[in-house]
Amino acid sequence: MFVLNRVQSINNIFRQVNLIKNALENNYPLKRWLHDHLTLAILGENLSFPYVWLRDNCQCEMCFHQSARSRILDWSNFDLDVKPRDVVRDENSLQVTWTDGHKSKFDLNWLKFRSFTADNQQRYNEAIYKPKKITWSGEQFQKICTKHEYDEILNSDKGLYNWLLKLSTYGVALIQNTPNSETAIDSIVERIGFTKRTHYGVKFIVQHVANTSNVAYLSSNLQMHTDLPYYEYCPGANLLHCLVQTKSLGGENLLSDGHFIAEHIKENYPDQYKLLTEVEVEWSDIGTEDKNDFFKLYRAPVICLDKHGAVTRINFSIPQRGSHFPGTIDMVKPWYEAHRLFLALNHRFSAKFKTKEGDILAFDNIRLLHGRNAYEDNNDNVRKLIGAYVDWDEIYSRLRCLKIKLKSEDTVY
Ligand code: OGA
Ligand code: ZN
Ligand code: ZN
Repeated sequence: MFVLNRVQSINNIFRQVNLIKNALENNYPLKRWLHDHLTLAILGENLSFPYVWLRDNCQCEMCFHQSARSRILDWSNFDLDVKPRDVVRDENSLQVTWTDGHKSKFDLNWLKFRSFTADNQQRYNEAIYKPKKITWSGEQFQKICTKHEYDEILNSDKGLYNWLLKLSTYGVALIQNTPNSETAIDSIVERIGFTKRTHYGVKFIVQHVANTSNVAYLSSNLQMHTDLPYYEYCPGANLLHCLVQTKSLGGENLLSDGHFIAEHIKENYPDQYKLLTEVEVEWSDIGTEDKNDFFKLYRAPVICLDKHGAVTRINFSIPQRGSHFPGTIDMVKPWYEAHRLFLALNHRFSAKFKTKEGDILAFDNIRLLHGRNAYEDNNDNVRKLIGAYVDWDEIYSRLRCLKIKLKSEDTVY
């Protein structure tokens, strides 16, 4: 049994200095950052946990609802300056008695899993938060686009997990040998969760329609795009089941990795990168589908970044870019130049792929651009796809559940 607290080693002094530096840089109030954490060695690593965080994350029945697995601690009188009165550590747990007499007990593995070190944070991010993405260019497509059996995804958790992991890593993964029925895709969606319904329906049919509500429903060339950029809550992944492929030439899909293109532009064309990441344009879809009218608008740049500069979403669609340009007039021409560059690079680094009957082409709709070459459509030669969208919230959730279920992650959840 031993208790560790306060600054006791050179390492800890360095950590304190870093905390102060960090606090100064970020304008955090300094006082609470100085001493208010507990440092303990777990499996050879010195790990620090702020008192306030420990108290907030007490796992006892009064603070944490066991079946809802959610915090129920009353925050209306939470003390930010909370301190331990007594700390006891045994082989597997840490027990803290707080100055107000409340007792908390933490499993050491549970704590380690939540440690604040950069290494642990990184490990958690990739193991649980979101799998790391690997970017690719067209010539690598055959290698990165893995093929998965329909039956295996339906009948095996491992099969489902593998498919979803590849889909999130590369943004594309193909399902083969899907039964020839308009409802076959439903079973795949149900393995994940549910579809994202849009004004084109719970599912949608892609085939030639003369008086179409969407240019995708024509047999002419469909330029590279992302679907539905005019949605603020844009459908995350696109599943396209090829029920009938054209017998004519054409009808192939073009696919490119928008994240690869973004990296390439960032490195080689910084001015255009700035325009593509900063200038908001208006994406739009106006019309009627199934007698329901719609008027969708959403403003966002082509390449959307988070505060770390990582790409969160790609928007691109020539037909679904509105004519209202929300930027200033001097931005217009430079932005069009950047837009043309973006399209040209997506072509240069794209792969061409013709799906077969029974294929479901699954791809990340907020990462990849996709397009389709023109084909002939007549009574003896039709092409028909059934499409459905699934959100990344549902896919990541399924991946995490499967990871725990398959025990490939030794998590303490
Ligand atoms: C679409 C689309 C691809 C295809 O409907 O938005 O991209 O292969 N279709 O027809
Ligand atoms: Zn408690
Ligand atoms: Zn599309």
